[in-house]
Amino acid sequence: MHNTPEKVKAYYEDWTDRYMENFGVFFQACQAESPDALIDHVISVCDIQDGQKLLDAGCGIGGPGIVLAQKKKVDIEGLTLSPKQIQIGEGLKEQHQMKGTLNFNQGDYHKMEEIFPKEGFDLVYFLESLCHSDNPEQVIASVRSMLKVGGKVYIKCFFKGPNKPSDPESLQHALDVSDQVFFLKLRDVGDILNLLVKYGFSLHFCRVPTYQINFDPGNSFVARNKIKLYRNQKKEHDGTGDMYLHCLEILAVKYY
Ligand SMILES: C[S@@+](CC[C@H](N)C(=O)[O-])C[C@H]1O[C@@H](n2cnc3c(N)ncnc32)[C@H](O)[C@@H]1O
Repeated sequence: MHNTPEKVKAYYEDWTDRYMENFGVFFQACQAESPDALIDHVISVCDIQDGQKLLDAGCGIGGPGIVLAQKKKVDIEGLTLSPKQIQIGEGLKEQHQMKGTLNFNQGDYHKMEEIFPKEGFDLVYFLESLCHSDNPEQVIASVRSMLKVGGKVYIKCFFKGPNKPSDPESLQHALDVSDQVFFLKLRDVGDILNLLVKYGFSLHFCRVPTYQINFDPGNSFVARNKIKLYRNQKKEHDGTGDMYLHCLEILAVKYY
């Protein structure tokens, strides 16, 4: 299926309430022990400093951006396709004191140069958002244009798993369901790493996140929405079965 930004936008306009019911304000399946722990991890691995300008590409209702701006005096531009998420996010922002700022923008991360000044950011980060793109090359090219030389991109997302499932057709079925239900394009991570190198990034790491991973929110989301991820699955997903997807974190620096 072809994931256009229009389709992903419609999906989030429709599903944001369900995301909030299940996930709270962090719309992520691969979470840490707490929202604080996740953001502390991002701050640490990206070496985020007061005074920096950050771009949260695929910001949801702004949960991660708000926690980050509570911890650091940074200016964050949040970008989402969904006007509904912005409306909710503006309300959420009013309920929190922040050291820094968070500004919501509606638009497409494939074309960030149409929204923001070029080479204006120290860090562009994607928290479970890049996997919606049908055209990651355009996104990485756009990220490059947003970053200062020496600026960083951090991507935490889902990719095809490294484990060969006992039944390859079952893997394909799970990938198809992820695509058709969640508009997720699960790729080989090498595809993204090659693009980063092609667009002048130096890779710092690509690994399983080093925080204590908590998949419970993702598993309960699948179960609550009665999604059958596996072929011939008799009951709701309970987090067991062949791993078909893999949560990874990537850090790369714009080298030239
Ligand atoms: C799973 S949610 C993650 C939200 C947020 N990062 C968080 O952790 O709460 C995915 C987000 O990516 C955004 N997104 C997907 N495709 C996008 C695109 N082409 N341009 C901008 N945002 C996009 C959606 O609007 C949504 O906010």
